[in-house]
Amino acid sequence: MAHAAKLGTNVTGVQMSPKDTESLLEAVNEIHPDVPGDTSGLMRERAERASEAERIGSVPLPGSAKGMLKSSMDMLRGKSPEILLDKMGERLAYERNGVRLYDAMIAKVKGSDTPDSELVGTLQHIRDEEYEHMMLVARHIETLGADPTAQTPCADVVGVLGMGALQTITDPRTNVEQCMNALLTIELADNAAWEMLIELAEAGGHPNIAQDFKHALDQENDHLVKVKTAMRRSLIGQVT
Ligand SMILES: [Fe+2]
Repeated sequence: MAHAAKLGTNVTGVQMSPKDTESLLEAVNEIHPDVPGDTSGLMRERAERASEAERIGSVPLPGSAKGMLKSSMDMLRGKSPEILLDKMGERLAYERNGVRLYDAMIAKVKGSDTPDSELVGTLQHIRDEEYEHMMLVARHIETLGADPTAQTPCADVVGVLGMGALQTITDPRTNVEQCMNALLTIELADNAAWEMLIELAEAGGHPNIAQDFKHALDQENDHLVKVKTAMRRSLIGQVT
């Protein structure tokens, strides 16, 4: 896998053929859509479907985990505690996906034409911390008396959200820099989500959980810096 973008026979732009561009523009004016209307119908249809649709799953009832020691439990309290559980389920799914993304990224770098062992080390370090975070969230879901193996609605949604990054990194044709861009998107969202989760845990009356999550947020901040630095080093290095 090559690192750099390459000059080649890309014919997707209109400047490749001014003559064809002219006839294309003529056709736009002469040929009209055979279906009447505009995109407002699409919006109406989407709004209607959204109003009729059922929810994406539900949060399982806590307190049903077997073998839990009462003394180790941090019972759910406050208004709508299922919101915190839903978001903790989301973070668990996201961190698990993070482990898979970094594993795929490490393979990508190892398969590049100039494997960067320093970058592999950085990626491995981040990957291991994503794994730690996944286990941390799972543990705290259990201390709330809930089941970390249950997929909450928000966990389902972030699984779909992460598909773009997963497809980008596991596509054998994408290069290291393109995939680092996918990781940057993942880490930016990850940071914001941890901040939100800490606030939720504090507001929900779980300062101990919030405290543990702050340590994860510190590490996430470091991930963001590391991903940005690796991207900058690689891209700037190619143009100077
Ligand atoms: Fe991260």
